[in-house]
Amino acid sequence: MRVIERASEMQTLVLNYKKEGKIIGLVPTMGYLHAGHMALVKKARAMCDLVIVSIFVNPIQFGQGEDFDIYPRDLERDLKLLIDEEVDFVFHPAVGEMYPPGYSTYVEVEGEITSKMCGASRPGHFRGVTTVVSKLFHICLPDYAFFGQKDAQQVTIIEKMVRELNFPVKIVRVPIVREEDGLAMSSRNVYLNPQEREDALVLYRALKHAEKLIAEGERDVDFVKQEMEKVIKMVPYAVIDYIEIVRAEDLGALDKIEGQVLLALAVKIGKTRLIDNLLVEV
Ligand code: PAJ
Repeated sequence: MRVIERASEMQTLVLNYKKEGKIIGLVPTMGYLHAGHMALVKKARAMCDLVIVSIFVNPIQFGQGEDFDIYPRDLERDLKLLIDEEVDFVFHPAVGEMYPPGYSTYVEVEGEITSKMCGASRPGHFRGVTTVVSKLFHICLPDYAFFGQKDAQQVTIIEKMVRELNFPVKIVRVPIVREEDGLAMSSRNVYLNPQEREDALVLYRALKHAEKLIAEGERDVDFVKQEMEKVIKMVPYAVIDYIEIVRAEDLGALDKIEGQVLLALAVKIGKTRLIDNLLVEV
């Protein structure tokens, strides 16, 4: 496994492998890897000849007052995990390599898909994500790129960008990896103290409660949302950012619960904002 820090070097290497007909897989990450990330890496290893994992904490997707400076980082540990999975290249650029002084080019998916849910509470976040992912696609030229269902809105937006900008890449979605008790794995879980870690389970509990109601025949969007809210409020200090029930395909609003439906929520547990979601087929 080799660690590459320069975009031009990464691109030249990949172009040579492509000439040999090799299938390239890219797993974009911000590092501090856990079993969720590793599920993406394993999928890439199974499907591709050459696997590139990018590790880059992307400053432009963090808002002012968000956790860019304190975002957890442990490159040594990440590299060991990736060696074990037989990854070929780690692309690990410095901020100045991706955004040199005077940088001013951005990729933005407009509309409701980016302005609702996480887009409403994190203005500019998805513009930062689509910009860095576009750059990573151009640098690494993947045939397949792997994204987690954990960030359902992110992968839906990236799929739209890929379609609309004709990127020659196939997006592969990987299901959410959870801790044994149901908490969705996240690099940000390290921020939780023991009490918060226990209370964080309320997100998954709310999703499972909604899933059960829908399985029993409930089709009213507002009613199910209220029921989810009741579950969250069992943790008195939890602050709900959003609870949404939307069409899975494009995150559009629903009159009633039918088809492929995404149950999604964002909740602050103490200082830590957690997201989770569940797909339901009706
Ligand atoms: P990061 O939060 O590091 O996540 C990298 C990838 O791992 C994302 O596609 C995310 O959905 C996936 N992932 C995280 N936790 C997961 C879990 N528990 N189960 C399955 N997949 C999981 O998402 C980002 O980084 C950034 O926004 C990025 C796309 C790299 C752009 O900067």
